[in-house]
Amino acid sequence: MKTTELQSVKQRYNIVGNCEALNRALDVALQVAPTDLSVLIVGESGVGKEIIPRVIHDNSPRRREKYFAINCGSIPEGTIDSELFGHIKGSFTGAINDSPGYFGVANKGTLFLDEVGELPMATQARLLRVLENGEYIPVGATEVRKTDVRIVAATNVNIRQAISEGRFREDLYYRLNQVPVQMPPLRERGEDIVLLFRLFALQMAEKYHMDKVVLTDEAKHLLMRYKWPGNVRQLKNITEQISILSTDRQITPEILARFIPQDQETTQLATIHSEGEHSFENEREILYKILFELRSNVNDMRREMSTLKKQMEDVKGNAPTQITPSQLSTLTTQLSTVNSQLSTVNSQLSTVNSAEDAVAEEYVEPEIESLNLNDLSRQMLEKALERNGGNRKKAAAELGISDRTLYRRLKQYGMDK
Ligand SMILES: Nc1ncnc2c1ncn2[C@@H]1O[C@H](COP(=O)(O)OP(=O)(O)OP(=O)(O)O)[C@@H](O)[C@H]1O
Ligand SMILES: [Mg+2]
Repeated sequence: MKTTELQSVKQRYNIVGNCEALNRALDVALQVAPTDLSVLIVGESGVGKEIIPRVIHDNSPRRREKYFAINCGSIPEGTIDSELFGHIKGSFTGAINDSPGYFGVANKGTLFLDEVGELPMATQARLLRVLENGEYIPVGATEVRKTDVRIVAATNVNIRQAISEGRFREDLYYRLNQVPVQMPPLRERGEDIVLLFRLFALQMAEKYHMDKVVLTDEAKHLLMRYKWPGNVRQLKNITEQISILSTDRQITPEILARFIPQDQETTQLATIHSEGEHSFENEREILYKILFELRSNVNDMRREMSTLKKQMEDVKGNAPTQITPSQLSTLTTQLSTVNSQLSTVNSQLSTVNSAEDAVAEEYVEPEIESLNLNDLSRQMLEKALERNGGNRKKAAAELGISDRTLYRRLKQYGMDK
């Protein structure tokens, strides 16, 4: 692939970075675009997987047909088959109309199945069939329907492990993975990290009409040494926080260190502090600001959810018309907004947790404040464990903290028994 072609794709999609692994991923996407081969995009959370299916669709002969992005992890198990493959009126309570499902409405177009590793086994079987011969049977129907849909899927979970644990069909994996696209983690992208910081800082400066923050050379090095567990999404969040919260526009390593989580497993940043410089006041201040942002994000998410709910009710009550593709597309966009807000909240939670760790480990706070923070942290822990059926590993992953940190906290709160 010519460099100029790659550059123009990057420009068109606002993709920043020149590292070899990113170029390779885009190159594969462009080469496979004109075919009907299924593509499986793999990579950690926040690496930018969602850009690839768009590039593939827009550069394929299907570019003028429908494109839908579906987050398989966010659709309840009970409704996913009917969402994907449609249903017949009366086939279950609430099925007041026939519905074509995504495979019906996306005929001739492209479906992006995000978080495909989350699909229930029964849905995997249906998906395999439609991938093999374009055939599917809507829920409650008896005849087979045909569709011509190109599939691009993505996952941030280890599918091989899911296969060995019997949670993902191996035959489906091979069928989806006709062409793999590997998105590199941010920590392996070298100078691209600085370029991305510059992009996000510029976007913030333009959005809020302020001077953009710039990194000193030492700060650039620091940024490149950090492990970025939340990848580009985390870098974006942190750049936005710095842009808004830093009174200095020249960002030094000391300023950066206040915004980057101080978890020793993910960063070496602690070493830049000399004893006298370490400012717990700042850490606490940031913690409060992030909590404040977190609250406003959750509120945004609630608003988005209630709009979504209303839309769904409207669509349901709209008998006897079917859900139109444009309604479906609006709902999909809203779902994706909710999902992206969820990701932001998760990443902020992880920042809160790490900052809180730093405060808890090294500073004895006045009783009242520490009570509030500890209460909050304990509640988050309890909720996360509850949501994950007591599985500590999963709860830690959801909270964005290491297993070790989770165990330490459980012990701290007497919850380790
Ligand atoms: N190379 C890049 N240039 C500019 N922005 C990027 C780049 N890569 C990722 N981003 C931005 O980073 C954010 C996260 O990307 P995206 O949502 O695609 O992650 P993901 O890999 O799908 O993560 P997850 O597995 O958690 O869903 C988005 O806002 C995206 O626009
Ligand atoms: Mg994604």
